[in-house]
Amino acid sequence: MSLNRVIGVDGKIPWHLPEDFKWFKQLTIGGIVLMGRKTFLSLPKPLPNRTNVVLTRRPQMLARDPAFQALCGVKPVIGHWTARLRRGPAQLGFEKIAQREMWLVRSVERFLAALKKHRPQREVFVIGGAQIYERLLPLCTDLYLTVVPRIVEGDAFFPEFEHQFDFADIALKTADFEVRHYRRNDHT
Ligand SMILES: NC(=O)c1ccc[n+]([C@@H]2O[C@H](COP(=O)([O-])OP(=O)(O)OC[C@H]3O[C@@H](n4cnc5c(N)ncnc54)[C@H](OP(=O)(O)O)[C@@H]3O)[C@@H](O)[C@H]2O)c1
Repeated sequence: MSLNRVIGVDGKIPWHLPEDFKWFKQLTIGGIVLMGRKTFLSLPKPLPNRTNVVLTRRPQMLARDPAFQALCGVKPVIGHWTARLRRGPAQLGFEKIAQREMWLVRSVERFLAALKKHRPQREVFVIGGAQIYERLLPLCTDLYLTVVPRIVEGDAFFPEFEHQFDFADIALKTADFEVRHYRRNDHT
């Protein structure tokens, strides 16, 4: 986020920081990345070598959306992601988290139930945007927050988290940004 807590503008991230992308990739590779529909649609393609889980209240409608289909139709350069939408709506459920690389999930509750049932060994990363951070930060153990030392105009903001998390360490520092690591505290 920027100094004024901005994380997005017009559906995009308002800065381009390749080193931050690199850090994000290193951290999340091999994991399960959970994101809102708007964040997913802002990506050039599903994140390779990670299980992409997209929250949407209308999974079947989204599956029929040409923009979504176009995004899913792009084969990733790296990784084993394949669109499985052609098999019909049954594929849009959330049954075996470890056996699919791309999921649409109707609610946080369904996602949590699937985690509880299948207990994947891999870490789950909540990767935005604002609505999803707001809903899921209370359930996270750790927060890796990239802070861009600028005031930026935007329409998506990182929620208040300071009462829930304690600063742990600086995970990465560059001339353009720093990544702060926080851990959930016991006060909430
Ligand atoms: N700076 C960063 O690191 C960063 C990271 C990620 C995103 N961003 C930015 O953040 C912005 C997007 O954030 P946003 O808050 O507008 O959108 P978002 O959180 O990415 O997605 C919102 C959508 O997620 C679905 N959703 C939300 N809560 C849900 C729930 N409880 N159950 C089921 N589905 C749910 C809904 O999809 P439906 O409408 O389909 O039902 C909703 O419209 C963009 O500008 C993006 O670039 C920035």
